[in-house]
Amino acid sequence: MNKAMRREISPFIAMEVFKAANLREQAGDPVFHMEVGQPATSAPSRVIEAAKRALDGEQIGYTNALGITPLREAIAKHYKDFYGVEVSPERVIVTTGSSGGFLLSFLSAFERGDNVVLAEPGYPAYRNILTSLDLNPIGLPCDASTNFQPTPELIDRLEGPLHGLLVASPSNPAGTMLHRNELAALVEYCQDRNMPFISDEIYHGITYEEPATTALELTDDAIIINSFSKFFSMTGWRLGWMVVPERMVADIEKLAQNLFISPPALSQHAAVAAFEDMSELEGYVTNYARNRELLLRELPKLGLDKLASADGAFYIYADVREFTNDSMAFCQRMLEETGVAAAPGLDFDPHRGNGFVRFSFAGSFATIEAAIDRLKRWPVLHR
Ligand SMILES: Cc1ncc(COP(=O)(O)O)c(C=O)c1O
Repeated sequence: MNKAMRREISPFIAMEVFKAANLREQAGDPVFHMEVGQPATSAPSRVIEAAKRALDGEQIGYTNALGITPLREAIAKHYKDFYGVEVSPERVIVTTGSSGGFLLSFLSAFERGDNVVLAEPGYPAYRNILTSLDLNPIGLPCDASTNFQPTPELIDRLEGPLHGLLVASPSNPAGTMLHRNELAALVEYCQDRNMPFISDEIYHGITYEEPATTALELTDDAIIINSFSKFFSMTGWRLGWMVVPERMVADIEKLAQNLFISPPALSQHAAVAAFEDMSELEGYVTNYARNRELLLRELPKLGLDKLASADGAFYIYADVREFTNDSMAFCQRMLEETGVAAAPGLDFDPHRGNGFVRFSFAGSFATIEAAIDRLKRWPVLHR
């Protein structure tokens, strides 16, 4: 791959919808934001208080490249409390959002030109970061028949040498989850072939049917990526973490020192408090559950009845092929005519995404209610 190709990555199309929605809002027209995947809530109040205390009491300077010890210890303890898994704090690496974690994990796990398998549809930055690092994202076509998740049988259909697998459960955009046995089958598949297994667990905590399984319950050999952005409602604090096999820590430390120096110090000091009491965060999940219930009840009445199972995260991935074969134009028209902003599937799946739209229900109940009301009056959906 040459240098020109390295920067030829796709734009984030949902951001185009976001931009158009903002322009509409500035012009005084109502917009119902269901295009962006970020909680409408702020960070937990304990975190905000801890940040204020840190501003008064700490020098907000560089920290250890792998993160401050109290935070690494708090994250390790979280694995014990939340999943019953023992993790040593030395294997916990604090990162600049999970986005920083992708960079560090891809650089440390793969060599230039390696083929890394990802479910399609999936979070677009995976393939764009891989491409920009001279790695090859190998899109695995996944549909409702496997709950939009990879399986060993599907991976076996791919050609060529494969060097790694990245999964997300719950996933973005489908919100679907891998049950423990399904995750175990994928972990085993990778172990048998000596392929790094990366588990994006950023939506853990936001689940509706059953709790998510961390790959750490199954193996110490996986690379776990997580973040304070979603469950912890701290997108702008740019803080995430990884749990990695012990043998990788030293290499990642060198990369982290050079690429980032350290993760954001103020956010780290504040985030320690996030684990002290989760009740506020559980309240946020109750709100998402209410939004989800409303959408799962009302969207089918509008003819949007082919929906991914949405067992976790805050997205509903709707098959809109009955209405359009151009999800970008469909979303633009929906925004213009109803004020409802949603993300075209093309962002998440360059091959089949034109037949899908992602609705985010991370916003308020009032937003979702008003959006449904608008969509009910949109003739395009009336059948
Ligand atoms: C599946 C998934 N992983 C990672 C991220 C990146 O999150 P952050 O860098 O804020 O941790 C997102 C953001 O939407 C996501 O949906």
